[in-house]
Amino acid sequence: MKGLASLSLALLAAVCLAQAGCGRGVESGKSGEELFLTHCSGCHPDGGNVKYPRKSLDRMTLAANGITTPAGIVAKMRRPGPGMKTFDRQTISDADARKVAEYILATFR
Ligand code: HEC
Repeated sequence: MKGLASLSLALLAAVCLAQAGCGRGVESGKSGEELFLTHCSGCHPDGGNVKYPRKSLDRMTLAANGITTPAGIVAKMRRPGPGMKTFDRQTISDADARKVAEYILATFR
């Protein structure tokens, strides 16, 4: 029985690693667009910004505000400025955050 117990522990650890879970959040399986519509479009309809129009999500504005990469957008989700909700890894996993970021850069111009 002892062997079985450690085997199942090892299996758990393997599943954890395979899903990139354990601290990074669990991937939802949703597309970047679906995630954007769920979490962001309330304040950023069509890539705009209902609170601060000068902080919209089109490429030019993002670049003017120093955001040029998916990582830059993910960083904003993890540590937003005033008026924006914080999205931690439990809310949006690293993999999902990356998908939203790539969707934004590819979509709003
Ligand atoms: C409750 C409203 C709200 C929600 C929901 C929201 N944001 Fe924001 N967002 C803001 C506000 C307000 C700002 C301006 C303050 C700042 O720079 O953090 C902002 C700024 C940003 C910026 C910087 C834009 C620029 O031009 O500098 C990015 C990138 C961004 N949000 C991404 C997202 C993403 C991705 C989501 C969804 C996962 C999201 N936001 C959800 C309100 C929101």
